[in-house]
Amino acid sequence: MNREELEKEILALAERHFESAEKPAFVPGKTYVPASGKVVGIEELRLLIGASLDLWLTAGRFTDRFEREFASWLGRKHALFCNSGSSANLLALTSLTSPLLGDRALVPGDEVITPACGFPTTVTPILQAGLIPVYVDIKRSNLNVDPELLEKALGPRTRAIMTAHTLGNPFELDAVLEIAKSRDMWLIEDNCDALGSLHGGKKTGTFGHLATFSFYPAHHMTTGEGGAVATDDPLLKRIVESLRDWGRDCHCPPGRDNTCGKRFDMSFGELPRGYDHKYVYAHLGYNLKSTDFSAAAGCAQLPKLDGFVARRKKNFRRLLEGLSPSKSCLDLPEATPGTEPSWFGFPVSVKENAGFSRRDITTWLESKGVGTRLLFGGNVTKQPAFAGTKHRIPGALTNTDWAMYSTFWIGLWPGLTDEMLDHSMDVINEFSKNKN
Ligand SMILES: Cc1ncc(COP(=O)(O)O)c(C=O)c1O
Repeated sequence: MNREELEKEILALAERHFESAEKPAFVPGKTYVPASGKVVGIEELRLLIGASLDLWLTAGRFTDRFEREFASWLGRKHALFCNSGSSANLLALTSLTSPLLGDRALVPGDEVITPACGFPTTVTPILQAGLIPVYVDIKRSNLNVDPELLEKALGPRTRAIMTAHTLGNPFELDAVLEIAKSRDMWLIEDNCDALGSLHGGKKTGTFGHLATFSFYPAHHMTTGEGGAVATDDPLLKRIVESLRDWGRDCHCPPGRDNTCGKRFDMSFGELPRGYDHKYVYAHLGYNLKSTDFSAAAGCAQLPKLDGFVARRKKNFRRLLEGLSPSKSCLDLPEATPGTEPSWFGFPVSVKENAGFSRRDITTWLESKGVGTRLLFGGNVTKQPAFAGTKHRIPGALTNTDWAMYSTFWIGLWPGLTDEMLDHSMDVINEFSKNKN
């Protein structure tokens, strides 16, 4: 057999192996309904095997393809693949401190506005870059940054806004963009939880100077570990790439040399003339690259993404309708006006007069096999790791604290069947009825 025939046989065997997996029936109350999960199939396995047979291991043909196809799906000029959404946030924020930006670069002591409620690694890069987070409160209606408070929080050294579209529900982009433009501030959209959400018919992740994405299995599509930074700005693209790839100045992809033809012909700083460009560093960088295996999984997921988004929206509508009997004790989610969220999860907040606590209901749900999650770090300023870190809090964080005490979310990811969703809402409705 030649190599092509061997590959066909390997793939055929893998397909048989995949199809032979047991598909246990759903038993309400017994089978756990996870809050999040991945939907992967034979297409992912085929490309992963392709990447294995290449034995390339690091970023290669699948990474090139994934970066190109993801950017095109999103509608942005550049997408840079990295090893997580947290790394994407680190890269995006750190890129704004690059000396290549001249006067536009953020310098230690500059401020970045961010909501206090959310995922920690939306905030930690601000601190890691020696900048000062300015924590503002969220709105109860959409659990997102409140643009009015954002405007009031501006100080003389406030130069950027970094905020997520909470659980897929877009923040008020028009108002936030207007504030950012009026002060010539940078905007980073943490789009890790909002892949496929629309604002005015346009995808979120295309509005900020930079946007970040996570492809961890809980997210809208997966590459295992993985993330990306997207931008339209060629300079920001170059900076993010450099920071991701050890801080190097050279742009050659891994495994290729001297693509500019001037590798031994340039002068940099105090280095000897002609010093190998491969070893010239423009930034204090990291190595946050991913592998071709992850990219291969991503290439197989991308054609399924629109279907995943549609299913999330459908599941959201089913839960919203089905949970209406619980409205007297639970606040149910609302899409931000002018948007079509591609929901990450279904957020629920326990009303003050509900007669039970968030802890009561989440404990009950877990005991009935329904997975629950909190709104990530709650009020991140109260997290142990943030104690003693420099910050400014210009106003009360009332709604942030309310979410920390009252909000949780349940799953609506595409792997959940109608039966599973119905079980989740039956259990919630039963609990609220008995407590009322
Ligand atoms: C809003 C937000 N940003 C960033 C991240 C980090 O992504 P990752 O887990 O890929 O590091 C998450 C993770 O769920 C998130 O929800």
